[in-house]
Amino acid sequence: MGGIGSRVSGFLSAMKIDLLTLFPGMLRGFLEESILGRAVRAGLLDIRVHNLRDWAEGRHQVTDDRPFGGGAGMVLKPEPIFAAFEELSGPETTGVYPAPDGEPLRLPLVKELACEKHLLLLCGHYEGVDQRVRDRLIDREISIGDYVLTNGALAAAVVIDAVARHIPGVLGEEKSLTQDSYEGNVLSFPQYTRPAEFKGMKVPEILLSGNHGEIERWRREMRERRTREIRPDLEKESNNDEPDC
Ligand SMILES: C[S@@+](CC[C@H](N)C(=O)[O-])C[C@H]1O[C@@H](n2cnc3c(N)ncnc32)[C@H](O)[C@@H]1O
Repeated sequence: MGGIGSRVSGFLSAMKIDLLTLFPGMLRGFLEESILGRAVRAGLLDIRVHNLRDWAEGRHQVTDDRPFGGGAGMVLKPEPIFAAFEELSGPETTGVYPAPDGEPLRLPLVKELACEKHLLLLCGHYEGVDQRVRDRLIDREISIGDYVLTNGALAAAVVIDAVARHIPGVLGEEKSLTQDSYEGNVLSFPQYTRPAEFKGMKVPEILLSGNHGEIERWRREMRERRTREIRPDLEKESNNDEPDC
């Protein structure tokens, strides 16, 4: 299976993203604003939000049911999800299920997803989805952190936002990617802007010096020091170089 608009024989094509949710309204504003909204309007991303209820049968279009074996909560039924996937997926689709018990979303996985041509994200709700959906339709189960949200819409938004930044053309200044946290397994350096002094706090002298070599050296040191202090675990990780799309 595959995913969203990336490099095709040296040309750029829009990455396609379909979102399947019970709460389309939760995603609308997010997709229209800021960098993501601009990328959609520029044709770099082709994002569509679908209401899972549209594939549910019957007068009440029920999408959930009680869990076999008893216990608290409700579970999303397989039938509407299978019907939606049948209609929305193709040979290049990567089925993604944001789930707290999925693979942690980290930079190497973000970069991998950015190489896909079509992502179909299923947002869970209640106690989650029937396991047969996960077994048959889902290629990647992704956790955005070790905590539990009320539904998958925000988690799907996080996945899309992180992935979109790695699609060529989405960020105005591509260079900013390389100095971001987690690139090269280090955190970012502190940033300052005018005024040079504010409420008695001064910007580090070196940043006002105009000496670009020294500024680079200071930033590198800051990145290493902050990583050591805040995320020493990152130093032990293997390098997350850009995958070859
Ligand atoms: C209340 S949660 C279900 C939690 C599930 N019973 C469990 O304990 O693993 C409902 C939905 O929110 C989404 N979700 C919640 N927390 C998440 C996380 N940390 N990462 C990704 N998705 C999450 C998933 O789509 C999930 O199906």
